[in-house]
Parts: sequence; structure tokens; C-alpha cells
Amino acid sequence: MILIINGSPNKNSKTLKLAKSFATKDYMIINAYEQLINSCDDCKFCETKDGCKFNDDMNNIYNIINEVDTLIISSPIYFGSLSDKTMSIINRFQTYFSKKYQRKESVPTIKNLILVSTQGSYRKEFFNGPLQTMFILSKVFSSTFSEHLLIPSADQGVALNDNHKEKIDKIKKEIN
Ligand SMILES: Cc1cc2nc3c(=O)[nH]c(=O)nc-3n(C[C@H](O)[C@H](O)[C@H](O)COP(=O)(O)O)c2cc1C
Repeated sequence: MILIINGSPNKNSKTLKLAKSFATKDYMIINAYEQLINSCDDCKFCETKDGCKFNDDMNNIYNIINEVDTLIISSPIYFGSLSDKTMSIINRFQTYFSKKYQRKESVPTIKNLILVSTQGSYRKEFFNGPLQTMFILSKVFSSTFSEHLLIPSADQGVALNDNHKEKIDKIKKEIN
């Protein structure tokens, strides 16, 4: 199954529209701005125990993560980062990080990891932070295919060049 985490608050999110264009098989969307999720507060619970001390909407996301082979993070760039609600979810993946690297136990594998992001500016370096975030996620989830579609200057409309179109084809082939 494909899980799309939609990190845009916009009803007509340009980023989500792109992310949806990848998926021809079954997919599920989690709208980050509709979730009630506590911020990870580095309490260290997961350094020694399974799960998380918080009992909130992440429970559902943790259950879904067990079933997915493709995770698409779809988020606009906010101040050079993924949106805060996207990051709230990703920070709660700390439980997997601790499990794998501190407790040396196995965590779910997510074969395909895709980042889709748009931003207003032409400055491509604003995507650098999110790319690092995706790199860490690919290690945590042992992803074997990791790709990204990043569209700058999107405020006047998303213009896809040949490189973007090639990437879309490559991603579609891999995940469906
Ligand atoms: C709070 C906020 C912060 C933003 N920060 C940036 C930024 O750092 N760089 C940039 O290029 N665009 C920035 N933008 C513009 C959005 O990234 C851009 O409009 C994006 O394409 C919106 O995507 P969506 O339609 O999927 O929500 C920001 C927008 C908001 C609301």
C-alpha cells in the first residue's frame, strides 16, 4: 500500500496534486493538519521501551506504517523546512530510530520513499534540509528506492520540465 502524508494545509495543495499523480494503485492519505499529534519531547521512553508514551493520532499512523511499501511525504517548503505538521509526524518516528539504533531491534521496512515538495522561491537550496530528513528516514526504514520531486517557483503554477517528467515516470514504474 502507498501512504501519502499530506503536509499542506491548503485544500487545493499544489504539492498534493503532484503526489497523487504518482499513485495508480491503492493509496491512503493522512492529512497532517487534521491530526492531533503531540510533539516528540525527547522523553527517552523509546530508548528502552516499544512505542511511545503519548496516546494520540500517531497510533493510527504507526499501525499503517506496518502495512505500507511506499511512503510519500508531500509537503510545501516552510522557511526552508518541511511544514511543521509534517515534521510533527516525522519527529514521532523517533520511536523507530531508537528501536533500530539504540535498542538494536528491527523496525518496519518501507521499500520506496518519495519526497514531493513545492516552494515559492527559485532558490533550490531551500530543499536541502528536507533532503537530509529524507536521507535519515531512508536509513531508518531501510528503503531501497528513494526519490524526490522538488518544484521551485511554484506560486505562479507548477511547471514541469523534462527532468521532472522523467522522474515522475521513474517513480510511477517503481511504486505501482
Ligand atoms: C508559512 C510559510 C512559509 C513558507 N516558506 C517558504 C520558504 O521558505 N521558501 C519558499 O520558497 N516558499 C515558502 N513558502 C511558500 C510555499 O512553499 C509555496 O506556496 C508552496 O508551493 C505551497 O504548496 P501547497 O499548495 O502544496 O500548499 C512558504 C509559505 C508559507 C505559508
